[in-house]
Amino acid sequence: MRNDIRSLAAPRASTEIVRLGPNKGEQMRKISTLTIVAWMAVSVWVLLPAVVGTQSGATDAPAGFDGVTNGFVDQTTHDADADVFAEQEGVDEGLGPVYNAQSCGECHQNPLMGSSSQITEQRAGRLVNGVFVSHRGDSLIHSRATFASIQERIQPGNTVRSFRTSLSILGDGFVEAIANSTLEELADDQARNTNGAIRGQTINVPLGEVPNATRVGRFGHKNQQASLLSFAGDAYLNEMGITTPMFPVENTSNGTFVGFGTAFDPLPEPEDDGEDLEIFARFMRATKVPPREASLVNNATVRQGEQLFDDIGCDICHTRRIVTAPAGTLINGGALRVHASLGNKIIRPFGDFLLHDIGTGDGIVQNGGNSTRNKVRTAPLWGVRTRNRLMHDGLSFTFNEAIQRHQGEAGFVTNRFNNLSSSQRDAIVAYLTSL
Ligand code: HEC
Ligand code: HEC
Repeated sequence: MRNDIRSLAAPRASTEIVRLGPNKGEQMRKISTLTIVAWMAVSVWVLLPAVVGTQSGATDAPAGFDGVTNGFVDQTTHDADADVFAEQEGVDEGLGPVYNAQSCGECHQNPLMGSSSQITEQRAGRLVNGVFVSHRGDSLIHSRATFASIQERIQPGNTVRSFRTSLSILGDGFVEAIANSTLEELADDQARNTNGAIRGQTINVPLGEVPNATRVGRFGHKNQQASLLSFAGDAYLNEMGITTPMFPVENTSNGTFVGFGTAFDPLPEPEDDGEDLEIFARFMRATKVPPREASLVNNATVRQGEQLFDDIGCDICHTRRIVTAPAGTLINGGALRVHASLGNKIIRPFGDFLLHDIGTGDGIVQNGGNSTRNKVRTAPLWGVRTRNRLMHDGLSFTFNEAIQRHQGEAGFVTNRFNNLSSSQRDAIVAYLTSL
């Protein structure tokens, strides 16, 4: 069962050569269009010298569940940063008044510091004339408080609710180093190659570190953040209740002010001077990407599942291969240069970092506007073997259940999956357990 949809449109030479692949279909197409490519080569090189040049030198990002730095900082610094990421905060350091957990590491830890966990969060709001309106206070409903009397809970009328699973941050420095244009081209190619059946959406989201600047979002289930420093600031405030110069306003309890000056919060804002955010971002940027399960990579069933995964089109969204921007590229609104350890690296995230409507959307809007209400970022499948509660809400118990929930844009791929023999379906599941 070959991937017919993909061959509907001609590949765009620059994009295909620079960004995507390798996959069998594209390779074959490349050979058949060799002559065209040959005469186009001159103009392609003229148009895109930097991109083509760097692509040729791209090397694999280091992978490992081993806590070893990817080279962004030295090991001593990385170990010290990991300790700060894992550090439990108390009320005297700004924790609360409403919060979800006491340290980044509490939710990002399985199987090692930085990855994910079973911890979920609650979000809620309501729909008014087709438009999402956040819950009073904010759509994030904190599950803990430093005083019982200010415990948040979903108020009547807020019928749009969702759980959100904790996501891994391992390898996210490479994800941050993907150029906006790479994600935009990926979305364009996807729509063209599937005749619009699958059309990932990019959104431009604000950057905490540069006022008025935006960037293509890539972090969080809704792509609500584009930089790791911004996400760190967002998380310090929203997960732990610790304010910083980037996010100086304390959360409310269901809309009621409980910050400094009330009986609930002893510390004035900002509770942290922002130094911790730099450490969190540095820690995340220095992590290696999740590795494949070495003992399964060459297993015959796994290899069969790998081929079927591509043949039926799972890889259209669960993208195999992305190349980061060249070292030295200015990103994050000019606030960061891509470091040598992160630039021009090949990553295999099995995700496109784009938003899709596959029928699982939780109805919540964060930074993407109302059109993203029912869209969710493709879950990157690197490291998915460490998760036993799947999808954004953690409500799918098995890989097969997760696949069956793929409808909407992914509906035709799910149909192909269901038309496979049971041993072929098992092979795809075996493949997932190797990722
Ligand atoms: C209560 C659990 C919890 C705590 C504590 C927590 N996180 Fe998270 N983290 C999550 C969840 C849940 C998500 C997914 C949120 C979403 O998109 O809805 C997430 C997502 C992220 C992401 C996006 C990862 C990606 O690849 O998309 C980053 C980065 C991150 N957290 C960093 C941090 C940092 C830094 C801290 C500490 C300041 C922290 N988190 C504390 C639960 C937590
Ligand atoms: C149209 C794009 C698209 C296609 C095609 C697609 N997926 Fe997904 N996949 C997604 C999105 C989006 C999510 C996240 C959905 C959510 O959390 O609600 C996801 C989530 C998953 C998850 C859950 C991962 C986790 O961490 O919870 C698995 C497993 C998965 N997909 C496997 C597959 C397989 C296998 C196929 C092919 C049979 C496939 N997907 C095809 C977009 C796609």
